[in-house]
Formats: sequence, structure tokens, C-alpha cells
Amino acid sequence: MSQIESLLEEWDGEEVIIRRDEPTGSWIIIAVHSTRLGPTVGGTRMKPYPDLEAALRDALRLSSGMTIKFAVPNLPYGGGKAVIKVPENPDRNQRAALLGRYGKLVHQLSGLFNTGPDVGISSQDMDIIGETGAPYVFSRTPEAGGAGSPGPFTALGVFTAMEVVCERIFGEGSLKDRKILVQGAGSVGEALIDILSKAGAEIYFTDVDEATVSRIIGKHGARFIPPGEIFTTECDIFAPCALGGVLSFETIPVLKCSAVAGGANNQLAQAEDAERLRARGILYSPDYVNNIGGAMAIIGMETRGWSRREAEKNVIESVGTALRKVFKAAVDEGITTEEAARRLAEEHLAS
Ligand code: PHE
Repeated sequence: MSQIESLLEEWDGEEVIIRRDEPTGSWIIIAVHSTRLGPTVGGTRMKPYPDLEAALRDALRLSSGMTIKFAVPNLPYGGGKAVIKVPENPDRNQRAALLGRYGKLVHQLSGLFNTGPDVGISSQDMDIIGETGAPYVFSRTPEAGGAGSPGPFTALGVFTAMEVVCERIFGEGSLKDRKILVQGAGSVGEALIDILSKAGAEIYFTDVDEATVSRIIGKHGARFIPPGEIFTTECDIFAPCALGGVLSFETIPVLKCSAVAGGANNQLAQAEDAERLRARGILYSPDYVNNIGGAMAIIGMETRGWSRREAEKNVIESVGTALRKVFKAAVDEGITTEEAARRLAEEHLAS
């Protein structure tokens, strides 16, 4: 059996659409994981992958994650995700045309899959995708009638998760003088650093992009940690806000933090890593509980008429309530926080 066949066989989702984009040499993959709670929603991620199998693997995993993300607070949406695998050095001039063809494909699905931005895609890109993909496109720029970037709302949810984590381990929710290490200062990481600086936290961060690093250091007095030292730096809370898979059998043994709470999707490299964290006494706040804020706020503002303020209030309430339930269930039932979150999602998916 080929790798791709076994990936698809092991996946428990509903369907996958794979389209080759000949003019750019790209692959478009749309994974529809579950319509159990409603039409699927998920980000579009665009980046080079080593091969089609790696891109498919990412799409399948991320779409399953979206199902759980919506099911934890019992929102009426299912999980989906799109991955656009582009060549290493894509031709900038062809980018808009590729996004246009992608939008057309989304439109053809008639609402089965609705999409927002993810890694490698901005609100400006969503404007382009929306020209052919509307009305199944979220997070366009305000100029194009959208609610803009989800990043600040995702960051607000992650910040709320950090407060609940502090309540749990220090007995009070304040982040004042807490040492927080943010990995990745992208659209979520940078917004999180903004909120943390207002809350008086001691901020450490890393990023692989030089321009980003100098901008953040100037802006917040946040201290830069070289990427190679990120896992061994002592802190109260480690916040992965870059790509997935950073918590693994290699990194968990060397971590010097009391808790992990971040915005990246799929932070655990393997299912066993939740147990590895627990065994080390590190409190893990599950990624899909922390990072629902962006999707939740944008969907609410664009389909239910929420104001930005209402969106913020709902994100804070929803993440706080869900995470307190998860932490309590983990203690009561003697299971990992990851398992507790999964069970909560499964209850909602089954009812
Ligand atoms: N990247 C977002 C996520 O992972 C996807 C999204 C953003 C969906 C905005 C809808 C609206 O949750």
C-alpha cells in the first residue's frame, strides 16, 4: 500500500479533494473531516512541503483538530482544512491567479467547506480568494467587508488560557511578573505579546525572521531568545505560537517551564506526548481549547453581527469556561488534559 493510501485509510474523516494546479505546479488539498455538528470551517495554509504526502498529512491532521476545536465549546461547525502546497520559490505574479482558482474550487463545494486564513495566508489573500470563493470566505479585510485578521482574537483566547493556567498553578490568575516564553511572533504571537505586555508579564520570545525580531524587541522591550535555546529556557509558561509538533519525546524532557499554553495547532508531536508532559508535572493547556478565539470571533462578527467587543467577551468566556472544565475533569478522572478535552468534544459530537 502506498503511503498516501495508508494515510487516508487511517484517517477518520469524510472526504478529501485534491486538485493539481498545473500553471504554478501547486497542489490544493481540502480535507473535510466532519459535518456532524454543521458545515465545515477551517483555515487555508499555504507553504512549500517536501512532498504531497507531507502536505496531505498536515491537511488531515489539521482538519481533525478543527472538528475538536469547534466541538469543545459545542459550536455548530465541523472541521475542515485546506493546504496549498506551493513550489519552493513560487512566482509572485502567479500567486493571485492561483488563489483565484482555489477560490473557485471552494465555491464549487457550495458551502461544504468554508475557509479563513492560516499560515502563509493574509486577510488580503482572503480578499482575492473571496472574489471567486464568496460567500464561503471569512476574514477578508474591512475594506472588502470582512472582519479582518483573526490573530488578535486567537491571542486573546490564548491569554485567557494563561490566566486559567496561573489560577491553577499559582492560585491567582494575574500574569503580572510571570515569565512567558512565546515561540513565533507571527499574527498570533505578536498580538499575544501586545496583550502580555499590557498585563505586566515578563516576556521572552523567539522567531526565525530577523525583521520580526528587531521590530518586537523595539516595540515591547521583550527579550529575544535564540531559536536553539527555546526549549531549555526557564519560564512559567511556554507558548508555542509557530508551527505544530514542537512538544515531543526530544523536547519535553528538557523543558524548564511549569505549563504550556500556546496558539499553534497540533503542538503534540505524538499522542503519548500528553502523558510525557503530565509525568514531568508540566500543566498542558490543549491547543484546540486555547486557539478557538480567532475562528469563533470572526464567524460571530461576520455571520451573527457581533461587535468586536462582543466577540472579545465571548472568546474570553468560552475559552475560560472550557478550560476550567478540562482541568477539573483531568484531575477528577486522573487523565491528561488532552484526553479530558477530547472527551468533552466527543460528548458534544455524540449528543
Ligand atoms: N486558522 C484558523 C484556525 O485554525 C482558521 C479560521 C480563521 C477559520 C478565521 C475561520 C475564520 O482556527
